[in-house]
Amino acid sequence: MSNRFNRRRFLQTTAAAGLTAAAAPAIPRTPRRPVVIASANGLTSTNAEGVSCIEAAFVKITEGADVLDALIAGVNIVELDPNDASVGYGGLPDADGVVTLDSCCMHGPKRRAGGVACLKGVRTPSLVAQAVADITDHHLLVDEGAQRFARNMGFEIEDDLNTDRSRALWLEWKRRTDPEHFPDPESRAEAGYRVGLQMVAEGKIDPEHYYGTINCSGVNASGDVCGVTTTSGLAWKIPGRVGDSPILGAGLYVDNDVGAAGSTGRGEANLYSLASFLTVENLRQGMHPKDAGMAALQRIRSYTVDARLLNEAGEPAFNVNFYVLAKDGAHAGVAFYGGEGRNYAVCDNNGPRHEPIEGLLGND
Ligand code: GLY
Repeated sequence: MSNRFNRRRFLQTTAAAGLTAAAAPAIPRTPRRPVVIASANGLTSTNAEGVSCIEAAFVKITEGADVLDALIAGVNIVELDPNDASVGYGGLPDADGVVTLDSCCMHGPKRRAGGVACLKGVRTPSLVAQAVADITDHHLLVDEGAQRFARNMGFEIEDDLNTDRSRALWLEWKRRTDPEHFPDPESRAEAGYRVGLQMVAEGKIDPEHYYGTINCSGVNASGDVCGVTTTSGLAWKIPGRVGDSPILGAGLYVDNDVGAAGSTGRGEANLYSLASFLTVENLRQGMHPKDAGMAALQRIRSYTVDARLLNEAGEPAFNVNFYVLAKDGAHAGVAFYGGEGRNYAVCDNNGPRHEPIEGLLGND
């Protein structure tokens, strides 16, 4: 995935908002620096004006917006981007061709959280998750209940969130895995997984879009920490499957005293360890974000014992990524496997950019 860091565009954006160093009394001069981090699509996906998630969120934070409001405005750009097949509108659908979306958010200072799972028909599930946090006493609404809640809140409900592209890819997958030929469910599941990976290897699906997802966390100059994760989940999943993204402690965890962690990649592996929670607990013990995330990956690695999930070296045959932000602004992106094109997105006073994800098990 190319690094589309465009410093000139960022300076134009921040200049318009009065944020450049020369004309920027708006940048808070405190010991803490505002920072927004995200999975790589937080910089590669942009709106019609060419503004990415992390730029939009960072500018809003430096203008004094609530940190969670700013982050959600940022991820809305990715949710609405038809070219990002891992999140929101145009996300890769389930095995029946239906796009179902998962999201959760956490507001550090307010100690509030909300999530939605298996939500159909709403392009911006992160906004519904925020509404769950803000105006209900619950943490998670699912499927029809989540959709009814969204309708009652005034969200537009659409019949189908597929784009021509996501529908064509689903049809191709169906063609290759014709269930009529796989009456035994185990073989069918195996074929579904194998063909999905084959389509990734052929370049039809971006590897980062197979498990999809954007996670985005931010901190402002006062040290308020928030986070949001939003996804269309695993491509071609069994209808009703919910991954780690909307589950607090798995796809996202925020503690305003400490920092935030969120994840993309194989949700089933992360769910077994609640590794975002574990990462934040590691931060609490004083670990640097990189070490905190690596220790959580070690936990997942030690729990991965199923032969079908191991490669020839006996290591996990899949990737899980963590994006870790400490309250003081220190951050890291870690995964089982790093290497060429494996980045996370960062925006601070130095502008938006991709930084390399560090691999626990090297590069692939
Ligand atoms: N991490 C996204 C998912 O597994 O659904």
